[in-house]
Order: sequence, then C-alpha cells, then structure tokens
Amino acid sequence: MERPEARALVDKYADKDITVRHLISVEGVMRALADRLGADPDRWGLVGLWHDLDYDRTQDDLERHGLQTVEWLRSEGFTDEEVLNAILGHRFEQNQTDLMSTAIVHADAVAGLLVAAALVRPQKAAGMSVKSVKKKLKEKSFAPGVEREEIRNVESSIGLAMDDFIGVAISGLQSVAPEIDLS
Ligand SMILES: [Fe+2]
Repeated sequence: MERPEARALVDKYADKDITVRHLISVEGVMRALADRLGADPDRWGLVGLWHDLDYDRTQDDLERHGLQTVEWLRSEGFTDEEVLNAILGHRFEQNQTDLMSTAIVHADAVAGLLVAAALVRPQKAAGMSVKSVKKKLKEKSFAPGVEREEIRNVESSIGLAMDDFIGVAISGLQSVAPEIDLS
C-alpha cells in the first residue's frame, strides 16, 4: 500500500491528534530502523503507522486493542500477514516472531521518549543528541509512561547497541518532524 493511502486510514480510524502524532513518530523510527537493519522501510513504516490505530476506540475495551486494528485493516483489503502480525506483536509476546514484530516494541518506547524530549526543547527534534536522550532516560520523573526497560534491553532483543539504536531513532523522528510539528 502506498503511503498516502496508509496515512488516510489513520485519519479514518484515529480520532485524536496526539494519537496521529504518536503513530507518525513511531513510523519514522521504524523506517529508520529498517534502513539500519537492512529490512524493508515501507513495511516497517506501516507497522509503526498503524500499531495503535485503534487506540482511541478501544479505550473502554482494552482487550480489543491491536485485534481491532487487524480486523479493520483486513476489512480494508490489506493482506500482508507479517505486517498484521507485527501490529499484534506490539501487544502480545506470542506475536513477536521476527525482527519487525519485535522491533515495534522498542520503537514504540523510544518514540515516546524522543517526542517528550523534543517537546521541551526550543529546537524540538533538530540537533537532538544521543547523550541528551540518555539523560532523559535516566530521569525517572520525565515522561514516566515510557517503558524504559524496552529501550534498555534493545540490544539483547534486536541486536542493536542502545546508543546506536537511540541515534537511529533520533534520525527517524527527525525525518517525520515536519509532519508532526517537531521541526
Ligand atoms: Fe504506541
């Protein structure tokens, strides 16, 4: 599926601006990670862009989170099973069966930290350094909702050293920054 079509589905199913921005930030990180790992940025991007597609509409029924997204995407005619599996991978360990479905967990966490960090900088995402992000990682009171362990354990999980991972993630966020008002 082409990007404009994929992006249109976000407008169709996500209701809140903050959700749309989160999805696009994770898309940027996933694309950069795919690039770095020699995988397919377009498919990894879709996983990031859609992983929380149902977030605004499953708040009252969290059991449906992820499953609802897959149902919608199938009804839209989308049939890439590995992408659908990776979307479930961000929620269910049993779906973390390959690199793409495992990477989404780490991309989700680091994007949360990076966006929070960008929002408190005058230059937003521009010029952000690995060192400054690691400082934020240590500051427990900063963006407390971010699962820090999912950033720290990235090397044992997808084989990318944490500093390297954060550097790639920063460039991923920067690549989508203009679209989410972070440039
Ligand atoms: Fe997410």
